[in-house]
Amino acid sequence: MASILAPPGVSDIFPDEIPRWRQIEDAASRIFPLYGYSEIRTPIFEFTELFQRGIGSETDVVRKEMYTFEDKGGRSLTLRPEGTAGVVRALTSGTDLAAGVSQRVFYFGPMFRGEKPAAGRRRQFHQVGVENAGTVSAAADAESVAMLMHFLEEVGIVDSTLLVNTRGSLEDREKAEIFLSDFFVKRVSDLCEDCRERVSRNVWRVVDCKRPGCREVVAGLPDISGCFSSETRDFFAQVCGHLDTLSVEYRIEPRLVRGLDYYAHTVFEVTHSGLGAQDSVAGGGRYEITLPNTGKPIHGVGFALGVERIMLCQNSLGIPAPGQKTPEIFIVSLGDAAKLANFALASRLRHRHIPCVCGLEGKSM
Ligand code: HAM
Repeated sequence: MASILAPPGVSDIFPDEIPRWRQIEDAASRIFPLYGYSEIRTPIFEFTELFQRGIGSETDVVRKEMYTFEDKGGRSLTLRPEGTAGVVRALTSGTDLAAGVSQRVFYFGPMFRGEKPAAGRRRQFHQVGVENAGTVSAAADAESVAMLMHFLEEVGIVDSTLLVNTRGSLEDREKAEIFLSDFFVKRVSDLCEDCRERVSRNVWRVVDCKRPGCREVVAGLPDISGCFSSETRDFFAQVCGHLDTLSVEYRIEPRLVRGLDYYAHTVFEVTHSGLGAQDSVAGGGRYEITLPNTGKPIHGVGFALGVERIMLCQNSLGIPAPGQKTPEIFIVSLGDAAKLANFALASRLRHRHIPCVCGLEGKSM
C-alpha cells in the first residue's frame, strides 16, 4: 500500500535534526535580548485583510502565494506568509505604537507561501525575526542591521554579503515611480509577462523580479536616489555612518527594493554563496505599516532570517550539527518482579535528571 506523503514544499523535522534547530533558536534567545528584545508568539493564521493591507495587495506574496481559506463563520483567514504584520498587529493591541511608544520583540516560527518548491524555497518554512516597532531613527536601523550580523556570526556564518539601500520615504514615492515607469515602459518588450503588467500596477516589483531577462533590464536602471528628497538621502547617509561606527561591512546596492510594500527608507538583505539561486538568507528594513482599522501607519524596523537557509549556509561551510543527547542508561529486566522494580528505578533516575530508557515489553535480554 502506498504511504501518504507530506504535501510538496513542506518537510518533517526528525529527531536527529532538532539539535541544529535548537542551536539556532538558542542563539537568537542569547543575542537579541542583549539589544533589549523579548520573545513574542503570535497566531499562525490571521484575518486575510491584515496581510492585504499590511504587506500590500500588489505584492507577489499577497497576490499569488497566500494560503487563504474561509472558516465556518465565513471569515477569510490566511496562514501567515511572514511575521511583521501579525507582530505589529499584536503590539498595537497593547501599546500605542502610533504615539511613538517603542517595543522590541523577536519571534520564531513557521511561515507559509505557495511558491514553487526548490532548494531553499519551501511552502512551509521557518523564520527567526525581530521587530523594533514604534521607532523612527537612523541609529535604530543601523543597530538592527548590526544585530543581524551579530546573530549570523553567532551561528557561524561569517562570510555573507550585506546589501543596503533606501527605498525613499512614502512622499518620495510618486517621483520615483514616474521615473521607474518611464524607464521600463521603453523596455517593456524585454520584460517577462508578469512585469509587463507590473509596470502600470506596481513598478517596484519589476525592480525586484528575479527572472534573468528582467534582471538584465534592471541592471541598466540608473540610480533612482536622485528622485529622493535631501531629508531621505540624509537619513540614509546617517544609517551608513552608524554602520561605519559599528564597523559593519556593507555594500550599497541601488537596485535593492525588497518584495514587500511596507518598506520605506532603509532596506537590507544578506546573501550567501552557499545558497545558489535563492541566495538571500535574511532580509529586512524600515517600514510604515498600515493595519486595517488603524488611522496612522506604524513605523518600525526589523528583519527575518530563513532557518532552513541558515542551515544550508552552515552545511556549505562544513559547520557540524551539534550532537544529539541520548540516554546513557538502558534498563533490562529479567522477570516480572524486576520489571516492576526497574520501572520505579527509572522514574527515580529521571527525577534526578538522569536520562534513561527502560525496556517495557519484556523482550529477551
Ligand atoms: P522576506 O525577505 O520575505 O522578509 O523573508 C525573510 C527571509 O525568509 C528570506 O531572506 C529567506 O531566508 C526566508 N524565506 C522567505 N521565503 C522563503 C521560502 N519560500 N522558503 C524558505 N525560506 C524563505 C520578510 O518576511 C519580512 N517580514 C522581514 C522583515 C521583518 N522586515 C521587517 N521586519
